[in-house]
Amino acid sequence: MSEVQQKTAQLTDALKLLTQAYDDTLEALGSALSVKDEDTGAHSQRVTAYTISIAKNVPVPLPYLTVLAHAAFLHDIGKMAIPDKILRKPGPLDDSEKVIMRTHCEIGYNMLTRIPFLSDAAEIVLAHHEFFDGAGYPRGLRGEHIPLGARIISIANALDAMLSDRPYRNALRMSQAREEIRRCAGTQFDPRIVEVFLSIPETHWIELRESLGSPFRLTHLRNMGLVPN
Ligand SMILES: [Fe+2]
Ligand SMILES: [Fe+2]
Repeated sequence: MSEVQQKTAQLTDALKLLTQAYDDTLEALGSALSVKDEDTGAHSQRVTAYTISIAKNVPVPLPYLTVLAHAAFLHDIGKMAIPDKILRKPGPLDDSEKVIMRTHCEIGYNMLTRIPFLSDAAEIVLAHHEFFDGAGYPRGLRGEHIPLGARIISIANALDAMLSDRPYRNALRMSQAREEIRRCAGTQFDPRIVEVFLSIPETHWIELRESLGSPFRLTHLRNMGLVPN
């Protein structure tokens, strides 16, 4: 083996170790949220898989896909700081509770922005509840001012919320959830991303939801070819 080949092999090994260390850090953060609230933990895992599926069809550049996977996995990490009685309330939130719940975007941003390899993801986390028409929060950003990743996560997030049972309503069927996302194109969601989402067959989402492992490992998504190596 030549010296260049040897150095390249060493570098590849080092990068693999580094990627694993990043994954371990993310999973530790994610599992902390799961301990606080199991439902939010499982939700984050599904949103990561849905986000990557949509992003691959947009498509986005490979390095951005990694940033996006990190952001999706940690999008609700700020909920760590939300009191249990609000986070786990078995019914719809009242107005003052909503104000508190909404702070999870800024809290998540503040948690992640200081970690250098997560600072790009932090920007996406901050914007994941913005609406395409400017009616979202926390900053009321509009259209392309919302980071692309946040426009993708917003659809993945809504899809998972609609497909999950809530104490006060049953889960929607996949066809109903898709129809609702179509209806909100241009208001809540970026119409271009909605089009990409609707071009993916219903069966893909159903199979994906069923195939996600428990306990969840980011490596599992990587093995499924959902997250780049
Ligand atoms: Fe959220
Ligand atoms: Fe969420």
